[in-house]
Amino acid sequence: MSAVSAEVIGGDERASPRPEPCVIVIFGATGDLTGRKLAPALYNLMLDDLLPEPCVIIGVAREPMTTATFADHVLRRVSEHSRREVDPARWERFAAKLDYVAGEFATAATYDALAERLAAADSRCGGNRLFYFATPPAVFPMLIENLAAHKLIERRPVDARPACRVIVEKPFGRDLGSATALNDLIAKHLDENQIFRIDHYLGKETVQNILVLRFGNSIFEPLWNRNHVDHVEITAAESIGIEGRGAFYESTGVIRDVVQNHLLQVLSLVAMEVPASFSADDIRDEKIQVLRSIRRLHVEDVAANAIRGQYRGYRDEAGVAKDSTTATYAALRVMIDDWRWQGVPFFLRAGKHLAERVTEVAIHFKSVPLVLFKHEAAGEVLQPAVLTLRIQPEEGISLRFVAKVPGDRIAIGNVVMSMAYADAFHRPISEAYERLLLDCMRGDATLYPRRDSVDRAWQLMDPILHAWDGAPGVPIYEPGSAGPVEADALIAVHGDTWRPLTKAP
Ligand code: BG6
Repeated sequence: MSAVSAEVIGGDERASPRPEPCVIVIFGATGDLTGRKLAPALYNLMLDDLLPEPCVIIGVAREPMTTATFADHVLRRVSEHSRREVDPARWERFAAKLDYVAGEFATAATYDALAERLAAADSRCGGNRLFYFATPPAVFPMLIENLAAHKLIERRPVDARPACRVIVEKPFGRDLGSATALNDLIAKHLDENQIFRIDHYLGKETVQNILVLRFGNSIFEPLWNRNHVDHVEITAAESIGIEGRGAFYESTGVIRDVVQNHLLQVLSLVAMEVPASFSADDIRDEKIQVLRSIRRLHVEDVAANAIRGQYRGYRDEAGVAKDSTTATYAALRVMIDDWRWQGVPFFLRAGKHLAERVTEVAIHFKSVPLVLFKHEAAGEVLQPAVLTLRIQPEEGISLRFVAKVPGDRIAIGNVVMSMAYADAFHRPISEAYERLLLDCMRGDATLYPRRDSVDRAWQLMDPILHAWDGAPGVPIYEPGSAGPVEADALIAVHGDTWRPLTKAP
């Protein structure tokens, strides 16, 4: 079964006007993130007439390059990673917006050179500035201090013009202590309305659709609670490994890389109460409420509620210690102590080098109270209904339920009804970074985590990090498998098994 028709009934943001003119300064302009995500996102925004006009994009990085060689470098990366092909004429328009400053992030001369370029760009762009920290996290404090010392950023109240905004990449800190220190440092120089802590999962269409599905339809909300839901599974499985990022991953691991941020953000959207409105703060108020209600583990509870794993061969990757204990896989049981979810376990799992790339949220409903069709199920186990929100790669929604098999007797079978975004709306899904850059330029922080939620997420993860960091005995799993067998016991205690890692609905 599949959805056959869809119509856009309003709120089509792609029809909204471009943001005001703006200068975008990218620190780490020759790095992987800029090449893979930021530059392709900006190019695609231009193709959709959503990049500000005028707009100047100043790259800052250590590599000595001219603006022309920087533009060639960006062209190569955009050609590799853009979701649409690069068109030579339009590329020229994009390349004309690029500028480049070469220099060390620790050196005053870099900021002096940047100040000169900014002055020229400001006169064209009305002084609106967006700084993007696409560097390793260790550099963030240095960037903030230097930008403030050179008066390139300054505190502004909400809606003040010209705008001065900063996007900080993840991971935002390594634990609660370091995140607090970073937040305090930034807060010395900027107001909370100017700080955009990015979590690209929140820019994914399918993640945003969690709220539309829940609060735009009256059929789901009455069932969305402990009376009807048995358990929830949130999976972010990747088939790729660490892709040459050995040094980064060694000091990060799966909890800091994707669980503290992406998975907990998705969980809060799935579990939150109805917000008073769709404004940034009303939504973020409800999300933080979920995180506050999550039961905190003590270090001694970690073994029973969190399982780690490392793929075989990880220790042979460049930049990784031969005796590394870094986890590349994690499975967690999370309990939310509020009225809606009391007693409903949320099982989270994420890992590298698993059987399939699949990110999904599966809402497992309770079994019927009395199975009337025991004999008719003819060997099939009568399975409770499951609603699956397929975040990626086959974006869509599926509902599994039982139905009568056609014939002269009552035979029961499981069926799946499925909606695929690609078929339903016949329009391409834009990249998360496009949406998030656009929102930041418009000053809309709805899809950016607020300080309180980042702090609380670290508070929840800290006991797990304390229990795991440097501790020997990490279970090893085979690349291409479903993860360590030890994780099966976590969900088996509840009488269940993990969903198979498959793209298919
Ligand atoms: C990033 C992590 O935040 O998310 C990567 O640092 C991970 O390790 C990536 O591969 C996954 O993002 P996506 O959008 O491909 O699911």
